Amino acid sequence: MLIPVILSGGSGTRLWPLSRELYPKQLLPLVGKGTMLQETLARVTGVEGLGAPVVVCNENHRFLVAEQILEAGIKSRAIVLEPVGRNTAPAVAVAAMAAVADLPQNKGAGSENDPLLLILPADHVIRDVTAFRAALEIGRKAASEGKLVTFGVVPNKPETGYGYIKRVNGPGPAYAIDRFVEKPDLATAKAYVESKEYFWNSGMFLFRASTVLGELRELAPKIYEACAQAVTGAKRDLDFTRLPTKEFSACPSDSFDYAVMEKTKHGVVVPLDAGWSDVGSWSALHEAIPADSDGNVALGDVLTADSRGNYLHSTSRLVAAVGLQDHVVVETKDAVLVAPKNRVQDVKELVNQLKKQG
Ligand code: GDD
Ligand code: MG
Repeated sequence: MLIPVILSGGSGTRLWPLSRELYPKQLLPLVGKGTMLQETLARVTGVEGLGAPVVVCNENHRFLVAEQILEAGIKSRAIVLEPVGRNTAPAVAVAAMAAVADLPQNKGAGSENDPLLLILPADHVIRDVTAFRAALEIGRKAASEGKLVTFGVVPNKPETGYGYIKRVNGPGPAYAIDRFVEKPDLATAKAYVESKEYFWNSGMFLFRASTVLGELRELAPKIYEACAQAVTGAKRDLDFTRLPTKEFSACPSDSFDYAVMEKTKHGVVVPLDAGWSDVGSWSALHEAIPADSDGNVALGDVLTADSRGNYLHSTSRLVAAVGLQDHVVVETKDAVLVAPKNRVQDVKELVNQLKKQG
C-alpha cells in the first residue's frame, strides 16, 4: 500500500495578501481549478495500491482542510491536527505513526502492515503529472528496498531556499545520495549550480513507514520520543487525530531535511523533470502560470496597456496598469500589494511588521 502524506502546515507568508494565517496558500486555488491541497491529492489519484491519505495540518485549518478533502471526493485515513507548528520532521513522524497506528501488529518491513509513505507538500505545482508518476514508480522500487527516496530537479538558478543533492555516479535510475545540503548560502549554491553535479531537492519523499521511523529514532531521537508520546496521547474526533498540546509543544522544531536527510546513509535520488515548482513567492507563481504574449499573468478583473512581465491579480476591484514592467500587483478587499518582482522575497518582512503591529 502507498499512503500519501500531505504536509499542509505552512502559513505561506510570502504570498500575502492573498495567503493569510487563517487561509494559507495551500487552501487557495492559486494555479489550477482546485485548491493547492486538492490538486496535490488529485496528482496521485489512481496510482497503483493507493491508500487513503493522511493530512497533517494546524488545528486552526481543520474545517477548511476537511471540507476541501470531502469536496475532492476523497475519504482520508486521518487528518492529524498540530496544536503548534514544529516544522516538517515532527509532521512526518506523527504522520508515519498515525498511518500505521490502526494496522494489525507490524509483521516487519516489507509486509502489508508496513506501507510506503509518499510525503507531498501541499503547495507545489507539477505540470507534467505523467512524468511525476513515472518518477514515483522508480522511487517505489527503491523505497520498498529500504531507501529514503528524494526527487531531484535540475536547478536553473542558485536558489538558497532549497536543499541540494549530489548523487553518486553509478547505475540509475535511482541514484545513491553522496551529499544532501539543506539551504546553502548563496556562494555555495552558485558553486553547486555551476558544477552541474547537484539537483534541487523537490521536498517530496518516499519510504517505508518502518524505514523513516527507524531513521527518526536513530538520527532525531528527541523528536521521535516527543512525537511517540503525542501520538499515544492523541484523541480521535471524527476524521481528526488531535495531538495533545503539552506533549507536541515539547517536541523540538526541525525540518525533515536537516533532521534526517542531511544525516541518513540510505538516501537515493530519482531525477524529476515534470515542470515542478514550489510556489514559494509571487515571482515563483508568475513562472508557474502560463503568461500572455507580453509575459503578463493577469487574473481577475485586470486591464493593461504597454505593460510587460507582470503578475497582476485582482479579487474584488478593477486593477489597471500602464507602462508597468516586472511588477507584482495583488489586490484583495482589505490590502493591496505592489512590488517589483525581484523584491517579492521581502513580503515576508512586511508580514512580520504587520504581526508586530497586531
Ligand atoms: N503539517 C505541517 N507542519 N506542515 C508543515 C510544517 C509544520 O510544522 N512546516 C512546513 N510544513 C509544510 C509546508 O506547508 C510545505 O508544504 C512543506 O511542509 C515544506 O515546508 P517549507 O517550509 O515550505 O519548506 P521549504 O520550502 O523551506 O524547504 C523544503 O522544500 C524545498 C522545495 O520546495 C525542503 O525540503 C527543501 O530541501 C526543498 O528544496
Ligand atoms: Mg516550501
